[in-house]
Amino acid sequence: MDFTDLHLKTADSTNRAARELGQKGGSHGSGVMAEAQTAGRGRLGRAWFSPPGVNLYCSYIVRPEIAVEHYPRLTLAAGVSIATCLHDYSHNDVGLKWPNDLFIGARKCGGILSETSTDSEGRLFAVIGIGINCNLSADDIPADLRDRATSLLIEGGKTIDRKRLYSQLRMALLATLAEFEQQGFSSVLKRWHKYDLFRGRQMAWQRPDGSRVEGENLGPAEDGSLLVRDAQGFVHRVLSGDVNLSDVYS
Ligand code: BTN
Repeated sequence: MDFTDLHLKTADSTNRAARELGQKGGSHGSGVMAEAQTAGRGRLGRAWFSPPGVNLYCSYIVRPEIAVEHYPRLTLAAGVSIATCLHDYSHNDVGLKWPNDLFIGARKCGGILSETSTDSEGRLFAVIGIGINCNLSADDIPADLRDRATSLLIEGGKTIDRKRLYSQLRMALLATLAEFEQQGFSSVLKRWHKYDLFRGRQMAWQRPDGSRVEGENLGPAEDGSLLVRDAQGFVHRVLSGDVNLSDVYS
């Protein structure tokens, strides 16, 4: 396959740089990796901590042959690709938290930000942005993140070759997307469930109106939403926002 790869010293956000590449026609699987980001973005408009030279910040252009309405499921497809890849690559025990978090144990080590755009020929594509804390030491984690964040180095004791990981992640992502196209999303979802760290746990989230709902996490559904069953047995579909363990949610 023919990929275009940009390896930048600094990007504002690799998602923005990859979107630009995609708009110019960048092929399925092409990507951007940066040593640092000055405006790294997370989900829900949050900033993504992006110091130079230690972590992986990358974004891939993908043009899967799936219906437009299935695009929101790409974040879950990316999650399972990363978890599988990290198990094979660094033997780290990475698990997933709906919809886009990578965890090792109780701490977050990475996240995914998927966005869509159209190119100059009007063709839809997605940018899958991935941030993984690779060689960050415990001392380098800002104090306000220290009890919630970790890195592959901290957990596994081994330095990660970020460039190699970038290539491996691409292959894992493309393999999952081929599975999605050929066997449907249920096949991908089955793999996601294997890495789900929070299935069966009591979770809480806030509705857009501010009210709090609590219930058992049943895991993501076929449409990519999260199913949570409350004490009355009613199953809620959570489409967006943050869902947290009910004992740590305030
Ligand atoms: C999240 O957990 O909220 C998602 C974080 C995604 C961060 C990555 S870093 C590479 C890519 N570029 C960005 O600006 N964001 C993503």
